[in-house]
Amino acid sequence: MECNKVTAVILFISLISHVLTSAASESVCGDVTDCQALLKFKEAITSDPRGYLQAWNKANSFCNWTGITCHPHLQNRVIALELIDMGLQGVISSFLSNLSLLTSLSLYRNRFHGEIPSALGRLPNLVYLNLSTNLLESEIPDLLQGCQSLEILDLSSNYLSGIPEELCSMKNLMHLNLAVNNLTGDMPSFLSKLTQLIE
Ligand SMILES: *[C@@H]1O[C@H](CO)[C@@H](O)[C@H](O)[C@H]1NC(C)=O
Ligand SMILES: *[C@@H]1O[C@H](CO)[C@@H](O)[C@H](O)[C@H]1NC(C)=O
Ligand SMILES: *[C@@H]1O[C@H](CO)[C@@H](O)[C@H](O)[C@H]1NC(C)=O
Ligand SMILES: *[C@@H]1O[C@H](CO)[C@@H](O)[C@H](O)[C@H]1NC(C)=O
Repeated sequence: MECNKVTAVILFISLISHVLTSAASESVCGDVTDCQALLKFKEAITSDPRGYLQAWNKANSFCNWTGITCHPHLQNRVIALELIDMGLQGVISSFLSNLSLLTSLSLYRNRFHGEIPSALGRLPNLVYLNLSTNLLESEIPDLLQGCQSLEILDLSSNYLSGIPEELCSMKNLMHLNLAVNNLTGDMPSFLSKLTQLIE
């Protein structure tokens, strides 16, 4: 081979390996949005002491990963994410908002800190949200009003500090638990507008 051809081949090989390493999540997930969102969510978890998320890799289809339930008929669409009492530490990634068919999100009894991402308000099908018993702080995002299907919201036992007015636009809310947080003062009066509220 001529010198410049060799150089071209070497350049090509290094270009390919660069593309492969810089696109790790794409090579595991292809162009499947829900799979990519889950890997982004995993990236924001800084500690997984018992290794529950180790099997979140290409060795098996992502619908079989720990804690994931996919739609029974629609391929590659996540409907439930349940990672409970696993000692997980980190922030809750706003990429979860890309799981547009998600109906149930349970991350309770972990060590998630920081804010509840307001992007979760872009989940129109979310019915059940339980983030109880974590280290979440700051205000409950008012964008949660986008979760128009939400029936059960449990944010108890965190360090949350404010309830937005917009919670009252959740017409389907039946169960709300905000106990044991850093909320101060009386419950806002608008909560009485939640006609279906049981608790
Ligand atoms: C998921 O796991 C089940 C049983 O463990 C297996 O039968 C099925 O083929 C797996 N699905 C995929 C897509 O890997
Ligand atoms: C996925 O979510 C991220 C963070 O919220 C957002 O920036 C991005 O645009 C979303 N991608 C798609 C395909 O919806
Ligand atoms: C949410 O999770 C907690 C565990 O921290 C559990 O006790 C509670 O029953 C759950 N709430 C709902 C409404 O399912
Ligand atoms: C929550 O309240 C406790 C006691 O009132 C206080 O020590 C703590 O700093 C507060 N934490 C946050 C995150 O606001």
